[in-house]
Amino acid sequence: MKIFTTRQQIRQYLSSLANQTIGFVPTMGALHNGHLSLIDRAKNNNDLVVCSIFVNPTQFTNASDLENYPRPIEADIAKLTAAGCDVLFNPPVSEIYDDNEQWHLNIGQLEFLLEGEFRPGHYQGVTQVVFKLLDIVKPTSLYMGQKDYQQFLVVSKMVELLNIPVKMVMCPIEREPGGLAMSSRNVHLSANEKQHALVLSQTLTWAKENFGTLPIYDLEQEAMARLQNQPGVEPEYFELADGKTLLSADENSSTIVALTAAKVGKTRLIDNMLLR
Ligand code: PAJ
Repeated sequence: MKIFTTRQQIRQYLSSLANQTIGFVPTMGALHNGHLSLIDRAKNNNDLVVCSIFVNPTQFTNASDLENYPRPIEADIAKLTAAGCDVLFNPPVSEIYDDNEQWHLNIGQLEFLLEGEFRPGHYQGVTQVVFKLLDIVKPTSLYMGQKDYQQFLVVSKMVELLNIPVKMVMCPIEREPGGLAMSSRNVHLSANEKQHALVLSQTLTWAKENFGTLPIYDLEQEAMARLQNQPGVEPEYFELADGKTLLSADENSSTIVALTAAKVGKTRLIDNMLLR
């Protein structure tokens, strides 16, 4: 695997490979099987797979979350090599951002719903970094996880608004055997907290099983109660949303997704499941 840390080096290398399809998987590292499933998918459908590892400061709304974000770069390089990734881009912050850089992209209300409400500014940081990474890598296809459902919609909206020539590919959520969605933040969970955290996927599964038997509002209320009743879990939201707009779902929504966020101890977790 080739490893680049500067824009210039990676640009030079990628532009020397004419006519190759490039599958791109942007990450913040601390790689798990969820990330590796994206690499796998990209590998199956492209001549070349590029992964980036960059802990993007502008998308963190909490300084200690940024500081404590796990950064096991050597283990990540070993995992990517074993997975057959061709190129890793692992730049320092100064390679991506100028001092005092400030710009915003208006993506409409999607920015302010759900995660956007609890993490103000988060999606501006995500669009900034993904825009820059796409400009550097110029991939054929961009592979992102359903795990961050709203992020996928936000990036899709940016790609559409700015006419970026890339195909968006959503990959399914990889879960631990008990159902917990894999996440780099799971390393912060104690054994007890990991048990408590199972209530997220269990409640989503319950909602999926009971979808159609209860009105949407009742389903959301009951799901919130289930989360609240689990010791050590502080739910932030549990909502059934239209899968395209993330506005509250109604009977006419052709896609309906249940999305939830909760703190388990000090760790904030998100998860979601398609109901329709
Ligand atoms: P990160 O959290 O490292 O996730 C990188 C990619 O892996 C995202 O597309 C995410 O949805 C996907 N992913 C995470 N957990 C997954 C799981 N359990 N199953 C399947 N896919 C999973 O998301 C980010 O980084 C950043 O916001 C980024 C897009 C890199 C911009 O900084």
